[in-house]
Amino acid sequence: MTDHREAAAAAFEAAYGHAPTGVWSAPGRVNLIGEHTDYNNGYVLPFAIDRRTWAAVGVRDDRQLRLRSTFSTYEVVASLDTLDPATMDGWSAYVLGVAWAMQDAGIDLSAASGLDILIDSDVPVGAGLSSSAALECAVGVAFDELWNLGLDKLALARVGRVAENKAVGAPTGLLDQAASMLAEDDHVVFLDCDTEDARPVSLHLRDENLTILVMNSNVEHEHATGGYGDRFASCAKGAAALGVTTLREIGESDLPRAQEALDEETYRRIRHVVTENQRVLDTVATLEAEGPRAIGELLNASQASMRDDFEITVPEIDLACNTAVVAGAIGARMTGGGFGGSAIALVPADAVETIASAVTTALANAGLREPTIFTVTPSQGARRDY
Ligand code: GLA
Repeated sequence: MTDHREAAAAAFEAAYGHAPTGVWSAPGRVNLIGEHTDYNNGYVLPFAIDRRTWAAVGVRDDRQLRLRSTFSTYEVVASLDTLDPATMDGWSAYVLGVAWAMQDAGIDLSAASGLDILIDSDVPVGAGLSSSAALECAVGVAFDELWNLGLDKLALARVGRVAENKAVGAPTGLLDQAASMLAEDDHVVFLDCDTEDARPVSLHLRDENLTILVMNSNVEHEHATGGYGDRFASCAKGAAALGVTTLREIGESDLPRAQEALDEETYRRIRHVVTENQRVLDTVATLEAEGPRAIGELLNASQASMRDDFEITVPEIDLACNTAVVAGAIGARMTGGGFGGSAIALVPADAVETIASAVTTALANAGLREPTIFTVTPSQGARRDY
């Protein structure tokens, strides 16, 4: 297997003619449970995957940021003095957006030096695995260290979220960046998006001989346009009609009142968020009391809620989840924003081949797009590698 740290450093040297000061990296993520709850100030339970984005970075003696990557042929050049989210686009928007979001948060970058940056990544793009957060967080930790900012991981996650919201234009929550910054080996991150308290919860996958299968539908999603924003708007509409600032303020006991007050579709959207918050709490309690083999029904209930109430799944994802469970998965559900992307299945390690081939066959028989299926390991968050 390629050592991406060395590959990124070598590509940097080839591009800029000298060795980088360092190499930083951050992972993509899978959300175990808690979908579309983050921007409603609810609960999420993600982990980082063993697919990362690397940023090899060298210090310049001017104020320019120069960006290159192993997946594009062009170079992007910008000045730290004139960063403007309105003019950022493509993958470089995630990098420049982080520097701009730091300035926007009042962090003084007036003494910051320019940087040469080379990006490499093995996080699949468009798969719902947060390649964008991996990029934001990899450069976030690099900027923090090279500019001596002393920001903590949560502050860097917030900066990444602002970059995504303003430079890329997707109204997303803190889930992806918090996972990429805070994650630990073999743990999920239990994040309360209201208080922003986070703590690791042990998954015990290794002890239990379990693994997580990612089933990428290869149906590409896009959160800056389309259904994601519609769901965001429905949640805001429901909250306003119920007289609350965020949906975090209501629980399952408020659902009868919500049903009275809301139109049928908005009610189902709200019911998903409210029940999903409860499922995150139940998953944490179940993991801690009984371990991962006991969370299957919660994963399946979340998938059903996203399919029927929130309506963010696609046929490929629904069939993949159903088939995985019938073939022996403990539970399966879509992960991420929806409208394509990936599902996950919690599976016995010795059943990976059987379940993956059952899913591939079922999708082929239904005339649906062929999935890409692979296992992931809950891994460490953003860090310096070199
Ligand atoms: C995307 C967004 C996250 C979150 C999820 C849905 O991944 O980036 O902020 O809203 O969708 O849970």
